[in-house]
Amino acid sequence: MAITLKKLSPNLGAEITNLNLGNSLGAELTAEIRQIWLDAGGLLVFRDQVLTTSQHIAFSCNFGPLFGAPGEDRLQDTVGRYIHPKYPEIYRVSNKIKNGQLIGRERAGAYWHSDVSFRQRPAAASILYAHEVPAVGGDTMFADMARAYDALSEPMQQMLAPLRAHHDFSVAAASQYSAQIVVTDDLESGNQPFHPVVRTHAETVCKSLFINPGFVSHFDGFERAESGPLLDFLYTLATRPEFIYRHRWQERDLVMWDNRSLMHYAVADYGEEPRYMGRTTVIGDTPA
Ligand code: SIN
Repeated sequence: MAITLKKLSPNLGAEITNLNLGNSLGAELTAEIRQIWLDAGGLLVFRDQVLTTSQHIAFSCNFGPLFGAPGEDRLQDTVGRYIHPKYPEIYRVSNKIKNGQLIGRERAGAYWHSDVSFRQRPAAASILYAHEVPAVGGDTMFADMARAYDALSEPMQQMLAPLRAHHDFSVAAASQYSAQIVVTDDLESGNQPFHPVVRTHAETVCKSLFINPGFVSHFDGFERAESGPLLDFLYTLATRPEFIYRHRWQERDLVMWDNRSLMHYAVADYGEEPRYMGRTTVIGDTPA
């Protein structure tokens, strides 16, 4: 059966409606999905997926090793309390309370970031499944960092080419997490790599900006006062409306995005309405 595909915006995102991801895909279909995902700028939406948590994980494993899987790296310990107790590959994002405790990280990701960019090997794909969503609100926005790079003048591209940025979990720890929950070991060297500012995607060979305000502190060798204005200029460019796709969730959506070339922002505008998402996170390569 041919895959039914619809563009979600002129440059970023595609939607697939006629696949049941609960079935085993096989190598050929997996390769086809991967190619559609890359061609769609790294943003793929699957609608109406009735998936168990095991099926979500099994689908995700087609795209590489997962954070939290046996023998693989875990996400930062600060979010350990939000990992599914039975499925260590699942990071839960939710404002729902069970037995007096939040079942996931409440309003996670309400800032522009690229998942786990503070590791030597950051996330490639993130695969988020919508268990429960508000009637309106709780959208996720995606910014296309390859298009942002392409929009730069050639002299600016050349100036950025040799630069590296310091990605540091402490930046998010200070601005996004209450001090009580931050695990201090997370603030040490394993979560503070330098990555190239201009990243060449290992599969598409496209160049993109690999920086994000969530985790980047400064450019290597620059004073913070020197880095700040240039980073702000690049973030303003990258988040121009024409480089953004805004996903309005429906329950049972599964969205797969490419952290190598996109930033995302989860809009926390839904008050007390319940929102419950489960995420698997594929471990990527060292940015080059
Ligand atoms: C995340 O940053 O992974 C959370 C995204 C979302 O909840 O929409």
